[in-house]
Amino acid sequence: MTKYLIEGGHPLHGTIEISGAKNAAVPIIPAALLVDGVCRIENVPQISDVTLILQILRELGADVRTINRTTVEIDCSHIRNRQVPYELARKIRASYYLVGALLGRFGWAEVPLPGGCNLGGRPIDQHIKGFVAMGAEVDVRNGLIYAQVPGRGCLAGGQVYLDIVSVGATMNIMLAAVLAEGKTELSGAATEPEIMDLVCVLQKMGAIISVDVDRTFRIEGVKELQGYTHTSLTDRIEAASWASAALATHGDIFVKGATQPEMMTFLNVFRKIGGEFDITDKGIRFWHPGGDLKPVAIETDVHPGFMTDWQQPLVVALTQANGLSIVHETVYENRFGFTKPLVEMGATIQLYRECLGSLPCRFRQRNYKHSAVIFGPTPLTGRDIDVPDLRGGFSHLIAALAAKGPSNVQGISLIDRGYADFRGKLEALGADFD
Ligand code: UD1
Repeated sequence: MTKYLIEGGHPLHGTIEISGAKNAAVPIIPAALLVDGVCRIENVPQISDVTLILQILRELGADVRTINRTTVEIDCSHIRNRQVPYELARKIRASYYLVGALLGRFGWAEVPLPGGCNLGGRPIDQHIKGFVAMGAEVDVRNGLIYAQVPGRGCLAGGQVYLDIVSVGATMNIMLAAVLAEGKTELSGAATEPEIMDLVCVLQKMGAIISVDVDRTFRIEGVKELQGYTHTSLTDRIEAASWASAALATHGDIFVKGATQPEMMTFLNVFRKIGGEFDITDKGIRFWHPGGDLKPVAIETDVHPGFMTDWQQPLVVALTQANGLSIVHETVYENRFGFTKPLVEMGATIQLYRECLGSLPCRFRQRNYKHSAVIFGPTPLTGRDIDVPDLRGGFSHLIAALAAKGPSNVQGISLIDRGYADFRGKLEALGADFD
């Protein structure tokens, strides 16, 4: 089923349970490549990105067993192939973690350049910089990343400074460094909760990793690691997406599994807009209390800042706030393409090349439309929509659910990449769709 016909204008009401975090599962699964032995992961999201990465491991020779709906066991004792299948790897962004894990374990990797959502150039120069600092030779040609450690076959600890704070590069370099000979100092790193979840896994495996307040990780290489059992943290992006849906549709959603510490920055913004929430041990209830929503100015940033992936669903809710809201996107140069269909549905959103905010921003004077001004409230009207990417697609869906009249939303499979049992959740919330 790749398209939904949505009859919008009905508040979403009910309870849904969010899944494990996609951005934690996709590095934690490849970490299994670092050992001979069983690695057990619980709370694995049932999404297509995870299915693909597990399939890649199977093709490399891993024994992957599904224990139940959300638990898998992976045993990489018999890896026979280190060439990652092209067609599978090109479909996801996270395939780049296979470079770090294979290089760290075997000193050799051949991995297709990653796919994923089009949010700008999305280079992987910082990942490569890290591998090279640890003694690898890396060559990118014909759509493939060739990485190998000449001579001894084992990476050596090194000093790495990331010029751009990158979630992917931080975790990839960590995966490579845990079995390297000697110490690796990784500074200018990201410290998202999903990264700390990977650190927890690596520590369970026997790695020695510490982190300083200045976002420097110190990794002391060890000779060998062991299997792990880990329950992955829940998905704070999914939680914020449903929270935004509650606001945009005048609804009331209990998001089971949502946790406060990972969502503090989002919760502050949600409250400033006028949304209500109630935090319990089981999850967070988000609702629209009635009356006007208030506009806000936000700037996306690395953790603990306002996450870039939260921005898109929230913008839909901001179209219903009373006044001018401003969103300054400082992580991706091209993350506002999704606003065009919103404007066609009736939203008033203008994009600017200027930095509309005060955070240091790489895109200043670089001709990227990376700031948005949203004027609300504007009624939205249903229309035909082609889902452009994962988070943008979810925001279009929210817009369709909030809009008056029918919307035909095509390309739903892109949303399946990051939201488990999407259809079941919409049903549980009383959405009118087919
Ligand atoms: C991860 C998340 C994604 C999230 C993003 C930022 C996964 C699978 N995806 O993506 O959901 O939106 O973090 O929180 O975990 N960059 C470079 N060179 C590099 C690496 C990155 O220029 O070598 C740039 C990117 O183009 C981007 C910025 O740095 O503009 C941040 O990217 P990064 O944090 O690496 O994002 P991902 O890890 O790909």
